[in-house]
Amino acid sequence: MTACLRYRGALCPFAATLAAAALTLSHVGAACAAEPQVDYILNCMGCHLADGSGVAGKVPSVRDSLVPLSATAAGRRYLVQVPGSSQSPLSNLELARLLSWMVRNLSAVAVPATFVDFTGEEVGSYRATRLVAVAETRARLLSSSNTPLPAEP
Ligand code: HEC
Repeated sequence: MTACLRYRGALCPFAATLAAAALTLSHVGAACAAEPQVDYILNCMGCHLADGSGVAGKVPSVRDSLVPLSATAAGRRYLVQVPGSSQSPLSNLELARLLSWMVRNLSAVAVPATFVDFTGEEVGSYRATRLVAVAETRARLLSSSNTPLPAEP
């Protein structure tokens, strides 16, 4: 939580919302702490918003990008290595469940039956490597897929 707020905290206009969500949900307790949706609300929603549409000019929408990116090994590696994912306080297994939840719940496009859930092992294998040139990597990966390039932030 603290680490997450530090991540580009100055750029995020929703830090207060994030803190408010954390306060609201603090009664949920340990039993529900591993629920992907709760992890999303506490760690990601402040910037990505409830529906994943992001903030124009700052945070890209994930609503059209998650399906094409999660369909290739390079795209899946990017989804794990992007700073919001890799530097979150979540364990590899929690991050795997969260990314799978995001694909299934935030995508505006249909999730194909061929979609494979992320595993903790897969996340762990990518996570330690730091991603440089995030925006360029995103543009390259999305332009090489068959779907139109989602709007840049
Ligand atoms: C402080 C704001 C902020 C927070 C909090 C945040 N992100 Fe992000 N996220 C971004 C930005 C900005 C990008 C665009 C890539 C970049 O510049 O890092 C991004 C990109 C992404 C992407 C790539 C999506 C795409 O279409 O390219 C994923 C996946 C992602 N974030 C996951 C997460 C997860 C999971 C969390 C919570 C554990 C999270 N983010 C928290 C700001 C944030």
